[in-house]
Amino acid sequence: MSKLAEFRFTELDLDALATAEGRVAIVVGSDGLLGKAGPRVNRLTKGALKRLIESERFEKAKEGEVITLGYPTGMAAEAVDVLKLTRTAKHDSARKAGVALAKAKGEAALTLCLANLPRASEIVMGLALRLYRFTPHKTEEDKAQGAITVACPKPDELEAACAQPLAIAGGVHFTRDLVNEPANVLTTSEFASRLEALAPLGLTVKVLDEPELAELGMHSLLSVGHGSASPSKVVIMEWMGGEKGAAPVALVGKGVVFDTGGISLKPAAGMEDMTMDMGGAGTVAGAMQAIAARKAKANVVGIVGLVENMPSDRATRPGDVVTSMKGDTIEVINTDAEGRLVLCDIMWHVQEAYKPAAMVDLATLTGAVVVALGHENTGVYSNDDSLCNSFLKAAASEGEGAWRMPLGQAYADQLKSRIADVKNVGGRAAGSVTAAEFLKRFVKDGQPWIHLDIAGTASTKAASAFAPVGATGWGVMALNRLIADNFEG
Ligand code: BES
Ligand code: MN
Ligand code: ZN
Repeated sequence: MSKLAEFRFTELDLDALATAEGRVAIVVGSDGLLGKAGPRVNRLTKGALKRLIESERFEKAKEGEVITLGYPTGMAAEAVDVLKLTRTAKHDSARKAGVALAKAKGEAALTLCLANLPRASEIVMGLALRLYRFTPHKTEEDKAQGAITVACPKPDELEAACAQPLAIAGGVHFTRDLVNEPANVLTTSEFASRLEALAPLGLTVKVLDEPELAELGMHSLLSVGHGSASPSKVVIMEWMGGEKGAAPVALVGKGVVFDTGGISLKPAAGMEDMTMDMGGAGTVAGAMQAIAARKAKANVVGIVGLVENMPSDRATRPGDVVTSMKGDTIEVINTDAEGRLVLCDIMWHVQEAYKPAAMVDLATLTGAVVVALGHENTGVYSNDDSLCNSFLKAAASEGEGAWRMPLGQAYADQLKSRIADVKNVGGRAAGSVTAAEFLKRFVKDGQPWIHLDIAGTASTKAASAFAPVGATGWGVMALNRLIADNFEG
Protein backbone atom coordinates (compact mmCIF):
# COMPACT_ATOMS: atom_id res chain seq x y z
CA MET A 1 0.00 0.00 0.00
CA SER A 2 1.08 3.54 -0.56
CA LYS A 3 2.42 4.90 2.67
CA LEU A 4 2.19 8.43 3.97
CA ALA A 5 5.40 10.23 3.00
CA GLU A 6 7.85 10.32 5.88
CA PHE A 7 8.54 13.59 7.59
CA ARG A 8 11.73 14.14 9.59
CA PHE A 9 11.74 17.12 11.95
CA THR A 10 15.12 18.70 12.74
CA GLU A 11 16.63 21.97 13.80
CA LEU A 12 17.55 24.26 10.93
CA ASP A 13 21.22 23.84 9.98
CA LEU A 14 22.02 27.00 8.03
CA ASP A 15 25.35 25.67 6.81
CA ALA A 16 23.69 22.60 5.29
CA LEU A 17 21.49 24.71 3.00
CA ALA A 18 24.23 25.19 0.43
CA THR A 19 24.64 21.47 -0.09
CA ALA A 20 21.03 20.26 0.42
CA GLU A 21 19.96 17.95 -2.42
CA GLY A 22 16.62 18.12 -4.19
CA ARG A 23 14.53 21.15 -3.34
CA VAL A 24 14.69 23.72 -0.59
CA ALA A 25 11.51 25.52 0.42
CA ILE A 26 11.30 28.70 2.44
CA VAL A 27 8.38 30.80 3.63
CA VAL A 28 8.24 34.47 2.77
CA GLY A 29 5.52 36.76 4.05
CA SER A 30 4.14 39.60 1.97
CA ASP A 31 5.94 41.63 4.62
CA GLY A 32 9.32 40.16 3.67
CA LEU A 33 11.67 37.37 4.77
CA LEU A 34 10.66 35.16 7.66
CA GLY A 35 13.12 33.31 9.88
CA LYS A 36 16.77 32.64 9.28
CA ALA A 37 16.73 30.48 6.15
CA GLY A 38 15.67 33.31 3.83
CA PRO A 39 18.65 35.62 4.45
CA ARG A 40 21.04 32.67 4.09
CA VAL A 41 19.48 31.51 0.80
CA ASN A 42 19.61 35.08 -0.43
CA ARG A 43 23.30 35.32 0.40
CA LEU A 44 24.07 31.96 -1.23
CA THR A 45 22.19 32.91 -4.39
CA LYS A 46 23.88 36.29 -4.53
CA GLY A 47 20.67 38.21 -4.08
CA ALA A 48 18.47 36.22 -6.50
CA LEU A 49 15.94 35.50 -3.74
CA LYS A 50 15.61 39.17 -2.89
CA ARG A 51 15.06 39.99 -6.58
CA LEU A 52 12.34 37.37 -6.76
CA ILE A 53 10.65 38.77 -3.67
CA GLU A 54 10.79 42.29 -5.04
CA SER A 55 9.40 41.24 -8.42
CA GLU A 56 5.91 42.04 -9.66
CA ARG A 57 5.31 38.31 -10.00
CA PHE A 58 5.77 37.86 -6.26
CA GLU A 59 3.74 40.91 -5.40
CA LYS A 60 0.84 39.59 -7.50
CA ALA A 61 1.05 36.07 -6.06
CA LYS A 62 -1.75 35.05 -3.69
CA GLU A 63 -1.37 33.83 -0.13
CA GLY A 64 -0.32 30.19 -0.22
CA GLU A 65 1.18 30.33 -3.71
CA VAL A 66 4.63 28.92 -4.48
CA ILE A 67 7.12 30.64 -6.78
CA THR A 68 10.13 28.63 -7.83
CA LEU A 69 13.70 29.77 -8.30
CA GLY A 70 15.16 27.12 -10.59
CA TYR A 71 18.75 25.82 -10.49
CA PRO A 72 20.00 28.57 -8.17
CA THR A 73 23.67 29.46 -8.36
CA GLY A 74 25.52 28.93 -5.10
CA MET A 75 23.35 26.00 -4.03
CA ALA A 76 23.36 22.27 -4.78
CA ALA A 77 19.56 22.17 -4.76
CA GLU A 78 17.71 21.94 -8.08
CA ALA A 79 15.25 24.61 -6.93
CA VAL A 80 14.24 26.94 -4.16
CA ASP A 81 10.47 26.99 -3.68
CA VAL A 82 9.37 30.27 -2.20
CA LEU A 83 6.10 30.00 -0.33
CA LYS A 84 4.18 33.24 0.00
CA LEU A 85 2.50 33.19 3.39
CA THR A 86 2.15 35.81 6.09
CA ARG A 87 2.57 34.96 9.77
CA THR A 88 -1.14 35.63 10.32
CA ALA A 89 -2.28 33.40 7.44
CA LYS A 90 -5.52 31.48 7.97
CA HIS A 91 -5.34 27.70 8.25
CA ASP A 92 -6.77 27.16 4.76
CA SER A 93 -4.12 29.32 3.05
CA ALA A 94 -1.43 27.48 4.99
CA ARG A 95 -2.84 24.14 3.87
CA LYS A 96 -3.04 25.42 0.29
CA ALA A 97 0.61 26.41 0.53
CA GLY A 98 1.48 22.84 1.52
CA VAL A 99 -0.51 21.54 -1.46
CA ALA A 100 1.29 23.93 -3.84
CA LEU A 101 4.60 22.80 -2.41
CA ALA A 102 3.72 19.14 -2.97
CA LYS A 103 2.83 19.84 -6.60
CA ALA A 104 6.22 21.51 -7.13
CA LYS A 105 8.07 18.74 -5.28
CA GLY A 106 7.46 15.78 -7.57
CA GLU A 107 9.77 12.92 -6.59
CA ALA A 108 12.61 15.12 -5.32
CA ALA A 109 13.84 15.29 -1.75
CA LEU A 110 12.67 18.39 0.09
CA THR A 111 14.10 20.50 2.87
CA LEU A 112 11.24 22.61 4.15
CA CYS A 113 12.46 25.51 6.27
CA LEU A 114 9.69 26.67 8.56
CA ALA A 115 10.24 29.67 10.75
CA ASN A 116 8.19 29.89 13.92
CA LEU A 117 4.88 30.07 12.07
CA PRO A 118 1.59 29.58 13.90
CA ARG A 119 0.21 27.58 10.96
CA ALA A 120 3.30 25.44 10.31
CA SER A 121 1.42 22.19 10.99
CA GLU A 122 -1.20 23.12 8.37
CA ILE A 123 1.54 23.51 5.75
CA VAL A 124 2.79 20.03 6.66
CA MET A 125 -0.76 18.64 6.44
CA GLY A 126 -1.36 20.17 3.00
CA LEU A 127 1.91 18.69 1.84
CA ALA A 128 1.05 15.24 3.21
CA LEU A 129 -2.42 15.30 1.65
CA ARG A 130 -1.21 16.17 -1.84
CA LEU A 131 1.87 13.89 -1.81
CA TYR A 132 -0.13 10.84 -2.78
CA ARG A 133 0.40 8.36 -5.57
CA PHE A 134 -1.30 5.03 -6.19
CA THR A 135 1.50 2.76 -7.42
CA PRO A 136 0.88 -0.84 -6.27
CA HIS A 137 0.15 -1.94 -9.84
CA LYS A 138 3.09 -0.18 -11.49
CA THR A 139 5.94 -2.62 -12.08
CA GLU A 140 8.48 -0.23 -13.56
CA GLU A 141 7.98 3.06 -11.84
CA ASP A 142 10.32 3.99 -9.03
CA LYS A 143 8.11 3.98 -5.99
CA ALA A 144 10.53 5.87 -3.77
CA GLN A 145 9.43 9.30 -2.58
CA GLY A 146 12.21 11.79 -1.92
CA ALA A 147 12.57 12.32 1.83
CA ILE A 148 11.07 15.34 3.51
CA THR A 149 13.05 17.20 6.14
CA VAL A 150 11.20 19.85 8.07
CA ALA A 151 13.80 22.25 9.45
CA CYS A 152 12.43 24.53 12.16
CA PRO A 153 13.34 26.26 15.43
CA LYS A 154 11.54 23.77 17.74
CA PRO A 155 11.37 20.42 15.95
CA ASP A 156 9.91 18.48 18.89
CA GLU A 157 7.08 20.96 19.31
CA LEU A 158 6.26 21.01 15.61
CA GLU A 159 6.41 17.24 15.35
CA ALA A 160 3.92 16.99 18.22
CA ALA A 161 1.69 19.62 16.61
CA CYS A 162 1.74 17.62 13.36
CA ALA A 163 0.77 14.29 14.94
CA GLN A 164 -3.00 14.83 14.64
CA PRO A 165 -2.94 16.42 11.17
CA LEU A 166 -0.77 13.56 9.90
CA ALA A 167 -3.09 10.98 11.50
CA ILE A 168 -5.99 12.56 9.62
CA ALA A 169 -4.01 12.67 6.37
CA GLY A 170 -3.28 8.97 6.92
CA GLY A 171 -7.03 8.33 7.04
CA VAL A 172 -7.51 10.27 3.79
CA HIS A 173 -4.81 8.18 2.11
CA PHE A 174 -6.41 4.96 3.37
CA THR A 175 -9.69 6.01 1.74
CA ARG A 176 -7.92 6.84 -1.53
CA ASP A 177 -6.12 3.50 -1.59
CA LEU A 178 -9.42 1.67 -1.19
CA VAL A 179 -11.23 3.77 -3.79
CA ASN A 180 -8.41 3.52 -6.35
CA GLU A 181 -8.04 -0.25 -5.96
CA PRO A 182 -9.50 -2.25 -8.87
CA ALA A 183 -12.42 -4.57 -8.20
CA ASN A 184 -10.56 -7.81 -8.96
CA VAL A 185 -8.21 -6.96 -6.07
CA LEU A 186 -10.63 -5.23 -3.70
CA THR A 187 -13.28 -7.95 -3.51
CA THR A 188 -15.77 -7.93 -0.68
CA SER A 189 -13.55 -10.37 1.26
CA GLU A 190 -10.37 -8.37 0.68
CA PHE A 191 -12.17 -5.18 1.74
CA ALA A 192 -13.31 -6.86 4.96
CA SER A 193 -9.73 -8.05 5.66
CA ARG A 194 -8.37 -4.55 5.21
CA LEU A 195 -10.90 -3.31 7.73
CA GLU A 196 -10.05 -6.09 10.18
CA ALA A 197 -6.45 -4.93 9.91
CA LEU A 198 -7.50 -1.66 11.64
CA ALA A 199 -8.00 -3.51 14.95
CA PRO A 200 -4.49 -2.73 16.30
CA LEU A 201 -5.48 0.97 16.37
CA GLY A 202 -7.99 0.07 19.09
CA LEU A 203 -11.05 -0.38 16.87
CA THR A 204 -13.36 -3.33 17.45
CA VAL A 205 -14.07 -4.78 14.02
CA LYS A 206 -16.87 -7.30 13.41
CA VAL A 207 -17.56 -8.95 10.07
CA LEU A 208 -21.08 -10.28 9.42
CA ASP A 209 -21.36 -12.96 6.73
CA GLU A 210 -24.34 -13.95 4.56
CA PRO A 211 -25.98 -16.36 7.02
CA GLU A 212 -25.89 -13.71 9.78
CA LEU A 213 -27.22 -11.07 7.38
CA ALA A 214 -30.09 -13.39 6.41
CA GLU A 215 -30.74 -14.02 10.10
CA LEU A 216 -30.98 -10.26 10.68
CA GLY A 217 -33.39 -9.97 7.74
CA MET A 218 -31.18 -7.90 5.45
CA HIS A 219 -32.78 -9.30 2.30
CA SER A 220 -32.62 -6.00 0.47
CA LEU A 221 -28.83 -5.81 0.84
CA LEU A 222 -28.45 -9.51 0.07
CA SER A 223 -30.52 -9.17 -3.12
CA VAL A 224 -27.84 -6.87 -4.57
CA GLY A 225 -25.03 -9.42 -4.13
CA HIS A 226 -26.98 -12.46 -5.36
CA GLY A 227 -25.50 -12.35 -8.84
CA SER A 228 -21.87 -12.21 -7.68
CA ALA A 229 -19.41 -14.94 -6.79
CA SER A 230 -18.12 -12.66 -4.02
CA PRO A 231 -20.07 -13.07 -0.78
CA SER A 232 -21.88 -10.04 0.62
CA LYS A 233 -20.54 -8.77 3.94
CA VAL A 234 -21.32 -6.11 6.50
CA VAL A 235 -18.45 -4.78 8.58
CA ILE A 236 -18.95 -2.86 11.83
CA MET A 237 -16.11 -0.81 13.31
CA GLU A 238 -16.48 0.56 16.84
CA TRP A 239 -14.40 3.34 18.36
CA MET A 240 -15.48 3.95 21.94
CA GLY A 241 -13.15 6.76 22.98
CA GLY A 242 -15.90 8.84 24.58
CA GLU A 243 -18.03 8.66 27.67
CA LYS A 244 -19.09 5.15 28.58
CA GLY A 245 -22.62 4.47 27.42
CA ALA A 246 -22.98 7.74 25.50
CA ALA A 247 -24.83 7.33 22.19
CA PRO A 248 -22.35 7.12 19.30
CA VAL A 249 -22.22 8.91 16.00
CA ALA A 250 -22.95 6.36 13.26
CA LEU A 251 -21.14 6.54 9.91
CA VAL A 252 -22.76 4.38 7.25
CA GLY A 253 -21.14 3.59 3.88
CA LYS A 254 -22.20 2.11 0.53
CA GLY A 255 -19.56 -0.43 -0.43
CA VAL A 256 -20.44 -1.73 -3.89
CA VAL A 257 -17.03 -3.05 -4.90
CA PHE A 258 -18.16 -3.03 -8.53
CA ASP A 259 -21.42 -1.84 -10.04
CA THR A 260 -22.21 -3.34 -13.44
CA GLY A 261 -25.82 -2.28 -12.98
CA GLY A 262 -26.80 -5.94 -12.62
CA ILE A 263 -29.51 -7.19 -15.02
CA SER A 264 -30.26 -3.49 -15.74
CA LEU A 265 -26.74 -3.50 -17.19
CA LYS A 266 -24.83 -0.25 -17.55
CA PRO A 267 -23.44 0.79 -20.96
CA ALA A 268 -19.81 -0.28 -21.61
CA ALA A 269 -18.38 3.23 -21.96
CA GLY A 270 -17.02 4.36 -18.63
CA MET A 271 -18.17 1.27 -16.74
CA GLU A 272 -14.60 0.86 -15.44
CA ASP A 273 -15.22 3.88 -13.22
CA MET A 274 -17.65 1.81 -11.16
CA THR A 275 -14.69 0.36 -9.31
CA MET A 276 -15.10 3.45 -7.11
CA ASP A 277 -18.68 2.56 -6.17
CA MET A 278 -17.47 1.59 -2.71
CA GLY A 279 -16.46 5.21 -2.07
CA GLY A 280 -18.93 5.65 0.80
CA ALA A 281 -17.54 2.61 2.61
CA GLY A 282 -14.00 3.77 1.81
CA THR A 283 -14.68 7.17 3.36
CA VAL A 284 -16.18 5.61 6.48
CA ALA A 285 -13.08 3.40 6.74
CA GLY A 286 -10.71 6.37 6.39
CA ALA A 287 -12.66 8.43 8.91
CA MET A 288 -12.62 5.55 11.42
CA GLN A 289 -8.87 5.15 10.95
CA ALA A 290 -8.30 8.88 11.48
CA ILE A 291 -10.54 8.98 14.56
CA ALA A 292 -8.81 5.99 16.11
CA ALA A 293 -5.30 7.13 15.16
CA ARG A 294 -5.82 10.49 16.83
CA LYS A 295 -7.54 8.82 19.81
CA ALA A 296 -10.70 10.92 19.56
CA LYS A 297 -12.65 11.31 22.80
CA ALA A 298 -15.88 10.31 21.10
CA ASN A 299 -17.98 7.22 20.49
CA VAL A 300 -18.19 6.46 16.80
CA VAL A 301 -19.48 3.40 15.00
CA GLY A 302 -18.81 2.79 11.32
CA ILE A 303 -20.87 0.30 9.33
CA VAL A 304 -20.33 -0.62 5.69
CA GLY A 305 -22.27 -2.88 3.33
CA LEU A 306 -19.87 -4.72 0.98
CA VAL A 307 -21.47 -6.26 -2.10
CA GLU A 308 -20.84 -6.68 -5.81
CA ASN A 309 -23.62 -5.88 -8.30
CA MET A 310 -23.30 -8.46 -11.09
CA PRO A 311 -25.68 -9.94 -13.66
CA SER A 312 -26.05 -13.73 -13.58
CA ASP A 313 -28.70 -16.45 -13.47
CA ARG A 314 -29.01 -15.85 -9.75
CA ALA A 315 -29.11 -12.06 -9.96
CA THR A 316 -32.12 -10.04 -8.85
CA ARG A 317 -34.45 -9.25 -11.78
CA PRO A 318 -36.22 -5.98 -12.49
CA GLY A 319 -39.69 -6.42 -11.05
CA ASP A 320 -38.57 -8.61 -8.13
CA VAL A 321 -39.90 -7.71 -4.69
CA VAL A 322 -37.58 -7.95 -1.69
CA THR A 323 -38.19 -7.46 2.02
CA SER A 324 -35.92 -5.08 3.91
CA MET A 325 -34.76 -5.56 7.50
CA LYS A 326 -37.21 -2.86 8.54
CA GLY A 327 -40.01 -4.99 7.06
CA ASP A 328 -40.93 -2.68 4.19
CA THR A 329 -41.22 -4.46 0.85
CA ILE A 330 -39.35 -2.97 -2.11
CA GLU A 331 -40.14 -3.42 -5.78
CA VAL A 332 -36.82 -3.45 -7.63
CA ILE A 333 -37.65 -1.61 -10.84
CA ASN A 334 -34.02 -1.07 -11.80
CA THR A 335 -31.21 -3.27 -10.47
CA ASP A 336 -28.79 -0.40 -11.12
CA ALA A 337 -30.37 1.57 -8.27
CA GLU A 338 -28.65 -0.83 -5.87
CA GLY A 339 -26.89 1.49 -3.44
CA ARG A 340 -30.10 2.43 -1.65
CA LEU A 341 -30.97 -1.28 -1.32
CA VAL A 342 -27.69 -1.80 0.53
CA LEU A 343 -27.92 1.32 2.68
CA CYS A 344 -31.49 0.84 3.86
CA ASP A 345 -30.62 -2.38 5.69
CA ILE A 346 -27.39 -1.23 7.34
CA MET A 347 -28.99 2.09 8.32
CA TRP A 348 -31.82 0.17 9.96
CA HIS A 349 -29.44 -2.19 11.71
CA VAL A 350 -27.21 0.55 13.12
CA GLN A 351 -30.25 2.42 14.48
CA GLU A 352 -31.62 -0.74 16.12
CA ALA A 353 -28.30 -1.83 17.57
CA TYR A 354 -26.77 1.52 18.63
CA LYS A 355 -29.49 4.21 18.88
CA PRO A 356 -27.00 6.73 17.47
CA ALA A 357 -26.96 10.40 18.49
CA ALA A 358 -26.47 11.20 14.81
CA MET A 359 -26.33 9.10 11.67
CA VAL A 360 -24.41 10.13 8.56
CA ASP A 361 -24.51 7.93 5.46
CA LEU A 362 -22.15 8.30 2.51
CA ALA A 363 -22.67 6.83 -0.93
CA THR A 364 -21.73 7.19 -4.58
CA LEU A 365 -25.46 6.98 -5.02
CA THR A 366 -26.59 8.74 -8.19
CA GLY A 367 -25.40 10.07 -11.52
CA ALA A 368 -28.06 12.73 -10.99
CA VAL A 369 -26.06 14.44 -8.24
CA VAL A 370 -23.14 14.78 -10.66
CA VAL A 371 -25.48 16.47 -13.14
CA ALA A 372 -26.66 18.81 -10.39
CA LEU A 373 -23.40 19.70 -8.63
CA GLY A 374 -20.53 18.38 -10.75
CA HIS A 375 -17.34 17.41 -8.97
CA GLU A 376 -17.14 20.50 -6.76
CA ASN A 377 -19.72 19.69 -4.14
CA THR A 378 -21.19 16.67 -2.42
CA GLY A 379 -24.99 16.67 -2.24
CA VAL A 380 -26.14 17.03 1.37
CA TYR A 381 -29.64 15.91 2.45
CA SER A 382 -30.83 16.07 6.02
CA ASN A 383 -33.85 15.92 8.32
CA ASP A 384 -32.11 18.02 11.00
CA ASP A 385 -31.10 21.65 10.39
CA SER A 386 -28.80 21.89 13.37
CA LEU A 387 -26.81 18.72 12.55
CA CYS A 388 -26.78 19.68 8.88
CA ASN A 389 -25.45 23.17 9.59
CA SER A 390 -22.75 21.73 11.83
CA PHE A 391 -21.71 19.45 9.01
CA LEU A 392 -21.70 22.21 6.38
CA LYS A 393 -19.55 24.31 8.70
CA ALA A 394 -17.14 21.42 9.25
CA ALA A 395 -16.86 20.76 5.52
CA ALA A 396 -16.28 24.45 4.74
CA SER A 397 -13.57 24.77 7.34
CA GLU A 398 -11.79 21.75 5.85
CA GLY A 399 -12.12 23.05 2.29
CA GLU A 400 -14.36 20.16 1.22
CA GLY A 401 -17.26 21.26 -1.01
CA ALA A 402 -20.76 20.45 0.28
CA TRP A 403 -24.13 21.82 -0.79
CA ARG A 404 -27.51 21.20 0.83
CA MET A 405 -30.29 19.85 -1.38
CA PRO A 406 -34.02 19.68 -0.62
CA LEU A 407 -36.22 16.84 0.58
CA GLY A 408 -40.03 16.77 0.51
CA GLN A 409 -43.14 14.61 0.40
CA ALA A 410 -43.75 15.30 -3.30
CA TYR A 411 -40.38 13.68 -4.07
CA ALA A 412 -41.19 10.71 -1.85
CA ASP A 413 -44.48 10.29 -3.74
CA GLN A 414 -42.46 9.50 -6.88
CA LEU A 415 -41.48 6.22 -5.20
CA LYS A 416 -45.00 4.78 -4.84
CA SER A 417 -45.20 1.17 -6.02
CA ARG A 418 -48.28 -0.56 -7.39
CA ILE A 419 -47.50 -3.90 -5.76
CA ALA A 420 -45.04 -3.24 -2.90
CA ASP A 421 -44.57 -0.62 -0.15
CA VAL A 422 -42.06 1.35 -2.20
CA LYS A 423 -40.13 1.06 -5.45
CA ASN A 424 -36.41 1.67 -5.79
CA VAL A 425 -36.47 4.38 -8.48
CA GLY A 426 -38.50 7.54 -8.86
CA GLY A 427 -37.95 8.48 -12.50
CA ARG A 428 -35.56 10.93 -14.12
CA ALA A 429 -36.64 14.10 -12.37
CA ALA A 430 -34.63 15.00 -9.24
CA GLY A 431 -32.93 11.59 -9.23
CA SER A 432 -30.59 12.36 -6.34
CA VAL A 433 -33.45 13.72 -4.21
CA THR A 434 -35.75 10.73 -4.76
CA ALA A 435 -32.79 8.49 -3.85
CA ALA A 436 -32.44 10.46 -0.61
CA GLU A 437 -36.19 10.17 -0.01
CA PHE A 438 -35.92 6.40 -0.42
CA LEU A 439 -33.27 6.36 2.32
CA LYS A 440 -35.31 8.69 4.55
CA ARG A 441 -37.98 6.01 4.74
CA PHE A 442 -35.46 3.95 6.70
CA VAL A 443 -34.61 6.73 9.17
CA LYS A 444 -36.51 6.38 12.46
CA ASP A 445 -38.62 9.26 13.75
CA GLY A 446 -36.45 11.65 15.75
CA GLN A 447 -33.18 10.24 14.42
CA PRO A 448 -30.92 13.14 13.29
CA TRP A 449 -29.56 12.09 9.90
CA ILE A 450 -27.48 13.35 7.00
CA HIS A 451 -27.14 11.66 3.63
CA LEU A 452 -24.08 12.56 1.56
CA ASP A 453 -24.18 11.70 -2.15
CA ILE A 454 -20.49 11.62 -3.10
CA ALA A 455 -20.89 10.25 -6.66
CA GLY A 456 -19.25 13.41 -8.05
CA THR A 457 -16.64 13.99 -5.36
CA ALA A 458 -15.21 10.58 -4.36
CA SER A 459 -13.05 10.33 -7.46
CA THR A 460 -12.24 12.89 -10.15
CA LYS A 461 -10.58 12.95 -13.58
CA ALA A 462 -8.73 16.18 -12.80
CA ALA A 463 -6.68 16.94 -9.71
CA SER A 464 -8.88 18.25 -6.90
CA ALA A 465 -8.09 20.64 -4.04
CA PHE A 466 -5.97 18.18 -2.03
CA ALA A 467 -5.52 15.18 -4.30
CA PRO A 468 -4.07 14.21 -7.65
CA VAL A 469 -6.32 12.61 -10.33
CA GLY A 470 -8.37 9.68 -9.03
CA ALA A 471 -9.69 9.06 -5.54
CA THR A 472 -9.95 12.21 -3.44
CA GLY A 473 -10.75 10.98 0.06
CA TRP A 474 -13.48 13.64 0.16
CA GLY A 475 -15.27 13.68 3.51
CA VAL A 476 -12.70 12.14 5.84
CA MET A 477 -11.62 15.57 7.08
CA ALA A 478 -15.17 16.96 7.26
CA LEU A 479 -16.47 13.96 9.23
CA ASN A 480 -13.49 14.10 11.55
CA ARG A 481 -14.08 17.81 12.15
CA LEU A 482 -17.83 17.29 12.66
CA ILE A 483 -17.02 14.79 15.40
CA ALA A 484 -14.19 16.83 16.92
CA ASP A 485 -16.28 20.01 17.14
CA ASN A 486 -19.65 18.55 18.16
CA PHE A 487 -19.29 15.14 19.75
CA GLU A 488 -16.06 15.22 21.72
CA GLY A 489 -16.15 15.73 25.45
N1 BES B 1 -23.15 3.84 -8.62
C1 BES B 1 -24.15 4.48 -9.38
C2 BES B 1 -24.10 6.00 -9.31
C3 BES B 1 -22.88 6.67 -9.85
C4 BES B 1 -22.91 7.28 -11.09
C5 BES B 1 -21.73 6.79 -9.09
C6 BES B 1 -21.79 7.95 -11.56
C7 BES B 1 -20.62 7.45 -9.58
C8 BES B 1 -20.66 8.03 -10.81
C9 BES B 1 -25.53 4.05 -8.88
O1 BES B 1 -25.61 2.78 -8.35
C10 BES B 1 -26.44 4.08 -10.07
O2 BES B 1 -26.23 3.31 -10.96
N2 BES B 1 -27.43 4.96 -10.04
C11 BES B 1 -28.35 5.08 -11.09
C12 BES B 1 -29.72 5.21 -10.48
C13 BES B 1 -30.83 5.12 -11.47
C14 BES B 1 -30.93 3.73 -12.04
C15 BES B 1 -32.11 5.50 -10.77
C16 BES B 1 -27.99 6.33 -11.89
O3 BES B 1 -27.58 7.31 -11.28
O4 BES B 1 -28.08 6.28 -13.10
MN1 MN C 1 -25.96 1.30 -9.84
ZN1 ZN D 1 -23.87 2.00 -7.58
